Amino acid sequence: MKSIIITGGAGFIGSHVVRLFVNKYPEYRIINVDKLTYAGNLANLKDIEDKPNYCFVKADICDFDAIYALMQEEHVDGVIHLAAESHVDRSIKDPFTFARTNVMGTLSMLQAAKLYWESLPEKYEGKRFYHISTDEVYGALRLDHPEELFTETTKYQPHSPYSASKASSDHFVRAFHDTYGMPTIVTNCSNNYGPYQFPEKLIPLFINNIRHRKPLPVYGKGENVRDWLFVEDHARAIDLIFHKGKVAETYNIGGFNEWKNIDIIKVVINTVDRLLGRKEGEDLDLITFVTDRAGHDLRYAIDSRKLKTELGWEPSLQFEEGIERTVRWYLENQEWMDNITSGEYEKYYESMYANR
Ligand code: NAD
Ligand code: TYD
Repeated sequence: MKSIIITGGAGFIGSHVVRLFVNKYPEYRIINVDKLTYAGNLANLKDIEDKPNYCFVKADICDFDAIYALMQEEHVDGVIHLAAESHVDRSIKDPFTFARTNVMGTLSMLQAAKLYWESLPEKYEGKRFYHISTDEVYGALRLDHPEELFTETTKYQPHSPYSASKASSDHFVRAFHDTYGMPTIVTNCSNNYGPYQFPEKLIPLFINNIRHRKPLPVYGKGENVRDWLFVEDHARAIDLIFHKGKVAETYNIGGFNEWKNIDIIKVVINTVDRLLGRKEGEDLDLITFVTDRAGHDLRYAIDSRKLKTELGWEPSLQFEEGIERTVRWYLENQEWMDNITSGEYEKYYESMYANR
């Protein structure tokens, strides 16, 4: 039986990974380690919380003693590390929290795994430390060079405190392989969308605002380009790479699905309007251009051919189907959304946007 820690399992992507592993591998013990920050929500895992191969441990990844003790108690063989501060706008306001969680937290996970695995007779045999990262570490691509894509060898050039902290954590993970021989893997993925995403990110925020006929704050001119991947496809890639990926390798994961913000926003508006029985496009006038994000990366686009060629992964869902499923999910799960957007978070959101 394999014992696997998944960090950040109460967050957006983590909850999909936990669900996939718990359902697909009844013989594994899946330990979800999450601090439950504002972004962590155990309601994301309601459907699997009673499964016998699942357990939740509330812990901070920066708490080295707690993580090390947990590794010993649970005889952990694998770590899939997703816990992080993940929102660029927050990182601009509060970079320290990003350095603490993303850099020091990752280092704490690495060091705990190192000390525990090196204490075993078999050492690193059969062990794996898999770090989930972002394409944002590569910086930004040009709009007028659509042929340019991020590959696994693209130079790191992070611009935001968020991407700088993720870049730093990626370097630490690779250093633990090169220095101590730890069996690590890193993947860098493009923007995810789908159910259970915290509604400060573009797609769920806008779906909710359209529903309530609130303004849609589009940064700058809405010309920035992102490469969107349905979250369940990312979770499938993580499963494949955790089991079949080569130690010390990096794999880029992306959707080959680039959209200008303003265009994707129009698709979201039309889809919400249609599913709410409104006239399609009726809410286009909610679009409100606001001051651009500081250091706003112009374009991200991933070349995921290595993952396709070496491990046979490709996105399974067409974007039209993915966005339809996503919008439908948020509209059908209004209680989930309302529980988050009421109270403290609402106050935070108002203050965040007060001076825009
Ligand atoms: P999220 O913000 O939705 O979830 C993060 C989770 O980590 C939350 O459950 C939170 O409680 C937990 N967490 C935060 N600090 C912690 C700490 N100190 N100790 C323990 N738990 C802590 O993030 P997400 O969008 O699901 O992203 C997950 C991972 O994937 C991150 O590492 C992120 O950098 C990466 N990633 C995200 C995207 C994306 O589009 N969302 C794309 C590529 C990579
Ligand atoms: P986001 O979901 O924050 O992801 P990331 O910054 O990691 O790409 O934002 C996606 C794009 O949408 C990004 O170019 C910023 C833009 N954006 C807006 O225009 N308005 C908003 O209110 C938000 C949250 C994002």
